[in-house]
Amino acid sequence: MIDQLDDIEARVSAALDQAADLEQLEEWRLATIGRKGEVQLLTRRMGEIEPADRPAFGKRINEIKTSLQAAFEARQEALKRSAHETDGDTDRIDVTLPGRRPHLGGLHPSTLVMRRIERIFGDMGFQTYRSPDVVTDQLNFGDLNMPPDHPARDMQDTFYTTDPSVVLRTHTSGGQILAMQERHPEPIRVILPGMCYRNEQITARSEIQFHQIEGLAVGPAITFADLKGTLTEFARRLFGEGRGARFRASYFPFTEPSAEMDIACLLCDGQGCQLCKETGWLEILGCGMVHPTVLENGGYDPDEWSGFAFGMGPERIAMLRHGIRDIRYFWSNDLRFLRQFQRFV
Ligand code: PHE
Repeated sequence: MIDQLDDIEARVSAALDQAADLEQLEEWRLATIGRKGEVQLLTRRMGEIEPADRPAFGKRINEIKTSLQAAFEARQEALKRSAHETDGDTDRIDVTLPGRRPHLGGLHPSTLVMRRIERIFGDMGFQTYRSPDVVTDQLNFGDLNMPPDHPARDMQDTFYTTDPSVVLRTHTSGGQILAMQERHPEPIRVILPGMCYRNEQITARSEIQFHQIEGLAVGPAITFADLKGTLTEFARRLFGEGRGARFRASYFPFTEPSAEMDIACLLCDGQGCQLCKETGWLEILGCGMVHPTVLENGGYDPDEWSGFAFGMGPERIAMLRHGIRDIRYFWSNDLRFLRQFQRFV
């Protein structure tokens, strides 16, 4: 019987070597060293052995179990390792493939134009100022030479808050007053970008919110020639060398004299087309010499100080530059529209 143990060990070991994967290995374990396996059950045959030989028989079984258990663990380790390596082969990363591009956001078209405009004026020595969106009626109108009964208030439909003396600014011009009150009696060169609000019907050409960029220069001897020179140079830098520009007389209560600036139509270059309504010109901003009353409201003596101011709409400028036909695209959050400006970053 004891001799048979050697044969059993040899056969079972050979079977172990045949186990080709972890599944077969588990089958082997159940059939041999598992609780109901062949090797485990050998102990039960102790009764068939001469009592004198029993200790030797038991000892031999234990040796076999220990050595098979060790062989099993070694084989299991080896099979696990090779299974892992095979997985690695099929899932291997090809480092020569091009990477996946991350989705990058882009800047909003309004931000893009505003940054360009701020940059141009920055290069000309204008600081960028902020002024609040919610202002007093006095700042938005009164200080700008528009008393309560002034007909010019009808030019702009206003959003009022629950306090009728507090409004959403209808233009950035009130910022002129704040800049002057903060800076006097120093000379000033600032631009004031910001959102403006008007209680209007929303159409392809008018929105209830839009940006403006206000400009203000105040000094001891500023003339209309300074205004024309500064704005002509601005238009040259924004729209390119050789783009025709002209100033047309106009009216604003807070500037005297007042003007509007046009550039030669970007589409037809002055020939006359749909975009410029056959005039050959596109209006880009309003401007003028700061009204003496406004200078005074800002704390400057109009006998010693003068200044010019201007205001423009970045959305309007972006529409002209990019041929955008409907201003509602700006705030409709349509990615098909917004994505077209990613390349302008
Ligand atoms: N605030 C004027 C508007 O909203 C523009 C403007 C600004 C005109 C400064 C003259 C001077 O139309």
